[in-house]
Amino acid sequence: MSVTQPASSRAAEILSRPVSINGLTVPNRIAMAPMTRMFSPDGIPGEDVVSYYGRRAAAGVGLIVTEGTYVGHESAGQSDRVPRFHGEEQLAGWAKVAEAVHAGGGTIVPQLWHIGMVRKQGEPPFADAPAVGPSGIRVDGTEGAGKAMTQRDLDDVIGAFAEAAAAAERIGFDGVELHGAHGYLIDQFLWAGTNRRTDAYGGDPVARAKFAAEVVAAVRETVSAEFPVIFRYSQWKQEAYDARLAETPEELEAVLAPLAAAGVDAFHASTRRYWVPEFDGSDLNLAGWTKKLTGKPAITVGSVGLDGEFLRGFAGEGAPVKGIDDLLDRLERDEFDMVAVGRALLQDPEWAAKVLAGRFDELKPFDAAALRSLS
Ligand SMILES: Cc1cc2nc3c(=O)[nH]c(=O)nc-3n(C[C@H](O)[C@H](O)[C@H](O)COP(=O)(O)O)c2cc1C
Repeated sequence: MSVTQPASSRAAEILSRPVSINGLTVPNRIAMAPMTRMFSPDGIPGEDVVSYYGRRAAAGVGLIVTEGTYVGHESAGQSDRVPRFHGEEQLAGWAKVAEAVHAGGGTIVPQLWHIGMVRKQGEPPFADAPAVGPSGIRVDGTEGAGKAMTQRDLDDVIGAFAEAAAAAERIGFDGVELHGAHGYLIDQFLWAGTNRRTDAYGGDPVARAKFAAEVVAAVRETVSAEFPVIFRYSQWKQEAYDARLAETPEELEAVLAPLAAAGVDAFHASTRRYWVPEFDGSDLNLAGWTKKLTGKPAITVGSVGLDGEFLRGFAGEGAPVKGIDDLLDRLERDEFDMVAVGRALLQDPEWAAKVLAGRFDELKPFDAAALRSLS
């Protein structure tokens, strides 16, 4: 960075560069992080959801990762207001979302989701379906709270992810993101705390990654070779914030290498604060290590533009604006390739346009009231 270069042009220069993920060219480095909104009655994204995403694409977000959307398996979710990625009306709603995002100049991937043992009570259409997971254990350690999946269950769920990915390509999405983070189904297999299986899907990190790798491979086989498959993962889990999949880079490589080999095109490494080093002895964050270990493009996330992490937002707390110089430094060093932004983009649909134009003084602090509206 030249000393005389104004901050605004530096942000524009670094964030405006296009980036390739497999066959997709994303016009800039800014992604919208997936955020569950529960504004889709009967699982159908309506016109308000269409304009919510369209507005953000038109205001400079290069890649929208949609809120988590349930795959077509009876135990995938528990709310009838979370959008589904199966069913005629649901997919017709999503097709309009993709169209609006493209009209705004952005690209879009759905985040495909199965909540596994997080399921507690259900609403229609599958109110009575059981919670399922690798060992019937909840993330908080409760045993016997659901069904340990049989081979048939595994095959059904893998098939549901593949079908959803095929639908995404068919109705005009630019790729898919698989939700392998935060203690939901795929992560329940990855994490030893919830995976106590003694068959081929449990044991060491490579065995625990087998289910995730099979989901990736099935998706990869169903979509075109150039269609991007992004995999989101995290160390932390809902209800277990200090949980870790890997204590060392070597352990992390054991988890990620089978996924990369199965066909992941980019990783989305979910952290709550992007500036926190992941392992001792290096400044690299989780996305940085992911890129270094796999050679794949990586997306970082966590408190971008805000001082105060998102779980506090659920407790009703706001967060003041924070500068992004350190983020730009890391991007400039190619530590990672893209930056996903959550709450700042919920608060302000214009966040990306303002940052790209260097209008930093117009950025807004996060107010938890933004969680309750779809503006
Ligand atoms: C309201 C809300 C809903 C979220 N829903 C999801 C989700 O569906 N899938 C997911 O992977 N992460 C979800 N997250 C996490 C975000 O994608 C993101 O990682 C987190 O908010 C940190 O980014 P931020 O600090 O920029 O907000 C959610 C976060 C919020 C605030």
